[in-house]
Amino acid sequence: MKQKLILLCLFSLIQFSLFAQNGIIIYKQKDAPIEARIKDLMSKMTLKEKILQLNQYIGGYNNNANNIAELIRTIPPEIGSLIYFDADPVWRNSIQKKAMEESRLGIPILFGFDVIHGYRTVYPVSLAQACSWNPELVTQAAAIAAKEAKLSGIDLAFSPMLDVARDGRWGRVTEGYGEDPYTNAVFGVATVKGYQGKDLSDPYSIAACLKHYVGYSRSEGGRDYHSSEISRQSLWETYLVPFEACVKAGAASVMSAFNDISGVPASANHYTLTQVLKDQWKFDGFVVSDWGALTKLIAQGVAKDKKEAGLKAFNAGVDMDMYDNIYFEYLEELLNEKKISMVKIDDAVSRVLRVKFRLGLFDNPYTEIVSEHDRYLHPESKIIAQKLAAESMVLLKNNSKTLPIKSSVKQIALIGPIAKDTANIIGGWEGHGKSADVESIYEGMVKEFGKNVVLNYAKGCDFDSTDESGFREAVLAAAKSDLILVCVGEKLRWTGENASRSTLALPAIQEKLVFELKKTGKPIVLILSNGRPIELIRLEPQVDAIVEMWQPGICGGTALAQILSGKINPSGKLSITFPLTTGQIPIYYDMRQSGEPNSGKYQDIPTDPQYWFGHGLSYTTFEYGAIKLSSEKIKKTEKLIAQVEVSNTGDVAGRETVLWYISDPACSISRPMKELKYFEKKELARGEKLVFRFEIDPERDLSYTDENGNRILESGDFYVIINNQKTKFEIIE
Ligand code: GLC
Repeated sequence: MKQKLILLCLFSLIQFSLFAQNGIIIYKQKDAPIEARIKDLMSKMTLKEKILQLNQYIGGYNNNANNIAELIRTIPPEIGSLIYFDADPVWRNSIQKKAMEESRLGIPILFGFDVIHGYRTVYPVSLAQACSWNPELVTQAAAIAAKEAKLSGIDLAFSPMLDVARDGRWGRVTEGYGEDPYTNAVFGVATVKGYQGKDLSDPYSIAACLKHYVGYSRSEGGRDYHSSEISRQSLWETYLVPFEACVKAGAASVMSAFNDISGVPASANHYTLTQVLKDQWKFDGFVVSDWGALTKLIAQGVAKDKKEAGLKAFNAGVDMDMYDNIYFEYLEELLNEKKISMVKIDDAVSRVLRVKFRLGLFDNPYTEIVSEHDRYLHPESKIIAQKLAAESMVLLKNNSKTLPIKSSVKQIALIGPIAKDTANIIGGWEGHGKSADVESIYEGMVKEFGKNVVLNYAKGCDFDSTDESGFREAVLAAAKSDLILVCVGEKLRWTGENASRSTLALPAIQEKLVFELKKTGKPIVLILSNGRPIELIRLEPQVDAIVEMWQPGICGGTALAQILSGKINPSGKLSITFPLTTGQIPIYYDMRQSGEPNSGKYQDIPTDPQYWFGHGLSYTTFEYGAIKLSSEKIKKTEKLIAQVEVSNTGDVAGRETVLWYISDPACSISRPMKELKYFEKKELARGEKLVFRFEIDPERDLSYTDENGNRILESGDFYVIINNQKTKFEIIE
């Protein structure tokens, strides 16, 4: 068999070399093996052409206030990549035509953009998506985003963002999938699958770019761009986990982060970029630096100038320079000074070319031109966006079954700065999303309740001011209503990049509005629209029910209204812990086990958070039977089946997510109190019983990773944990 394979390879190489003699250049041969095409093209490229492939410039208007872009440089046709901020496929194709026809070798440009939670059909922010516990739905949403982006001229999305975040003061907490490594891995893979489809060369596939590699979310004090103190143990146990999963899922590229990792910047970190990512994980795509990350090496004190910054980043493993233009200016000089090698340049260039070949860009370099109407906002796309919005929303509190709203309610006071908002609930990094596309809560409520209920609207106050003049109108609206919906939350730019806040509390004016409404004595439902966990210690006691709607994108209005009416039974569970106060940060479910579990409490406030990771209520009730194990003792090489019967003991159908955790009470290192290792979401009709199963693979689910990235499975006792029950089993040699 092996001989046949060798003969076949030899034959195909001879065949293609014959073709070459007949003048058909191999790298232009669409049926030639990609590695043969790369090799052939590399052999033809000059040093300057190679270096240009390692630069990413900007094209079109830039709307990210944190990256004030200079004027569009005269774009050389040999440029490797462009960040394309507009959405004009004709313009994009005109630039691509320059590359294909005016450059010597006709190497296509790779066009990238921040497609984060949708392109034009914007769905919930990532932190909310994870609360849906529905990765299949996220894949569908990402596939819609990919198609809209591809038809707008984009080949590369700068996402998924996989930064495991436990400090809500950090504004970018909204862009990832919460505090848990496994959850970030599952939803990151779901997004990669949505973007990249079955094959990168499929007509509507785009390349994913895993970011920000790595440890950015540990920015000290939640202050963006700051230092991240991360031990090797924590790096492996927490921050690398989602990246490894997504690399294994075939993600095409990775973006190196701004932060330093205990003194060694992520964009100049040979250990993470080369030893781990490229050598250990065998990643064969390319690494692009974050915007300006190379120049930041100077401010971070590891490079005296741009040239040294380029040297350190390149030798660490950054293949492409986003926007700094440092590689263009200095790589040749560094090569001539023998500070970098031609081998490394060829490796970096081949990685970029590999992604372009895999995308099919050499064979289909141009964007299919369809009308704007046919490109965006298809009805079926909005259905997915609305479904994901609804499944992402979390019922945090529901005293005395305040919700769903009863038919006896004839007047609803709809109050607060979010009630009619369309500019902020779309969520940051909104891409080409437009507030004109956003359905407000008010609009959703009119559709859902308009026929039978009078809506008494009053804004009440602004997001952040000292002006209480709107309170009176709000109190009057409440006084004539049977129920108050007070809709408060965050502005668009209070989360996202460079959006750190010293407190998780909402501005005082919004809290005061709730206190004023409480005085009316009417039942109050608090509706939150935010991109980070919110401090609710003062608000929670004032209200009867709380719905976390997050920033749901363009289809949140009806999604929320249908939850409030009971048409949809809420099924979301938190992907991040809500601290009681900012002072509790950091607090997350998988903290290590304390040596004094019953001490070390705060003197001034309770030590438990407002809501733990995984919290979420339903309009029905689910009862869990006892965990059943297929065995109490297994060998390391055997599998263990854990199962539990869940009953819907309430009055309505509902979806329940069973979160399966493990814990290792006695290990060579102190491990987290518990670790999420699997979850499953199912619909249960009223009275229905369903069995949820978790097949435990000890190597995958019970081992821990040491500081060198070795997976270590130790024998001994373990627990499987769900809800509030835990069952012991033993692993033997
Ligand atoms: C920004 C962000 C990064 C984004 C990039 C391109 O500074 O840090 O997440 O993808 O620049 O806009």
